[in-house]
Amino acid sequence: MILAVRLLVRQRRVLAVILAMPTLAVAAAPLQGLLPLAAKQHCDECHAIQEVRIGPSFQAVALRYSVEGPAAEERLARKIINGGAGNWGNVPMVPNERVSLEDARAIAHWILSLAPGSAR
Ligand code: HEC
Repeated sequence: MILAVRLLVRQRRVLAVILAMPTLAVAAAPLQGLLPLAAKQHCDECHAIQEVRIGPSFQAVALRYSVEGPAAEERLARKIINGGAGNWGNVPMVPNERVSLEDARAIAHWILSLAPGSAR
């Protein structure tokens, strides 16, 4: 009897794990089209490419800063590392100090490439 109950419990657990799997897969899937480096740094927790989330869409950022020309890349890279406030609303971006300058430049380059007509 006890054995039968144990077996039942175990089966239920297996079933629960199987049922939870598709949900986990969806949650773990990176945003489509996102630069893998940006996914690795969890930028997509607050940013999407097209929609506003907690932070502005990367396309909106690209549109706004691409008019600054080549200097925009360095400026954005430093903003990514240092964070900032008041440029898009009342929610500040906390500093992302774990991101190296090299990685921040690569992400900034990718963000700016999202501007319409970008040749980057
Ligand atoms: C916890 C949420 C959060 C995370 C994580 C986050 N951001 Fe942000 N980000 C924001 C918010 C909020 C703003 C708007 C800040 C403002 O209004 O100045 C912002 C603004 C920006 C801007 C525009 C800066 C400006 O001054 O116009 C860039 C570029 C950016 N984020 C890139 C990134 C990148 C790249 C990552 C990953 C390394 C990242 N963010 C991670 C919330 C976040």
